[in-house]
Amino acid sequence: MIAVDAARARLGYAAAMPASTKGATTEGASTMHGSTHASAPSSGTRNAPPPVLETARLVLRPFRASDLEDVFRYATDPEVSRFVLWDRHETRDDSQRFLEWVIGQPARGELPSWAVVQRSTGRLVGSIGYGASEPAHARAEVGYVLARDCWGRGVMSEALAAVLGHAFGPLHLHKVVAHCHVQNAASRRVLEKAGMRHEGRLYEQLFVKGGYWDIDVLGIVDREWNAAR
Ligand SMILES: CC(C)(COP(=O)(O)OP(=O)(O)OC[C@H]1O[C@@H](n2cnc3c(N)ncnc32)[C@H](O)[C@@H]1OP(=O)(O)O)[C@@H](O)C(=O)NCCC(=O)NCCS
Repeated sequence: MIAVDAARARLGYAAAMPASTKGATTEGASTMHGSTHASAPSSGTRNAPPPVLETARLVLRPFRASDLEDVFRYATDPEVSRFVLWDRHETRDDSQRFLEWVIGQPARGELPSWAVVQRSTGRLVGSIGYGASEPAHARAEVGYVLARDCWGRGVMSEALAAVLGHAFGPLHLHKVVAHCHVQNAASRRVLEKAGMRHEGRLYEQLFVKGGYWDIDVLGIVDREWNAAR
């Protein structure tokens, strides 16, 4: 039987996954703290709060408790949650649980997530961050979501480039991976535009929302990222 919570913890969708908060937190923590391997260089910055990352149109900043309404607004949209592992938020308590989980990431020794904020309006329109990591291998998994009215304008590509720059810069990760549902063409395109390579397909890998999902795996290592800059 598939342990969905464990699988969630290994996927990069945790940037907005309140319904799986408990599983993600527990499993993620055990992955990071339970390792008996020596840690690769990235672990040194693991407990630091996420830095603010700025792009032309966006500010990526740590989440705050006051972000509740903005999170609730995008996370109630069934199209936004269609290809992620968490269920659509039905109540503000769902969004509250997500915020508590995501704000607590650094204190738990987990890699961070960022609120994606439009520079022009100050509106929080999505999230991006790490759902799981393997410090022994300097590898982490990234995930993201964006409010539907902002799709198709390169917003998440811009946010992902900033996060990868941080991952292969100050964070000293060796590899960043992502998983997406095989039908999630927009997400796969975002990953490919960032230079991530399709590494394979995991057939009927997860039982989510009533069915088994085929999952595409994409990844990029630091030298590939640096060579493209
Ligand atoms: C995936 C998501 C974050 C993309 O954000 P975005 O800001 O719209 O992405 P971008 O505009 O940077 O790029 C999207 C790309 O996908 C393409 N695209 C969008 N829908 C597509 C589709 N149905 N088929 C093929 N390509 C598609 C766009 O044309 C664009 O590529 P282009 O720049 O070459 O034209 C957004 O759709 C989202 O939040 N989806 C719901 C949550 C989700 O699925 N998260 C990822 C889980 S793995």
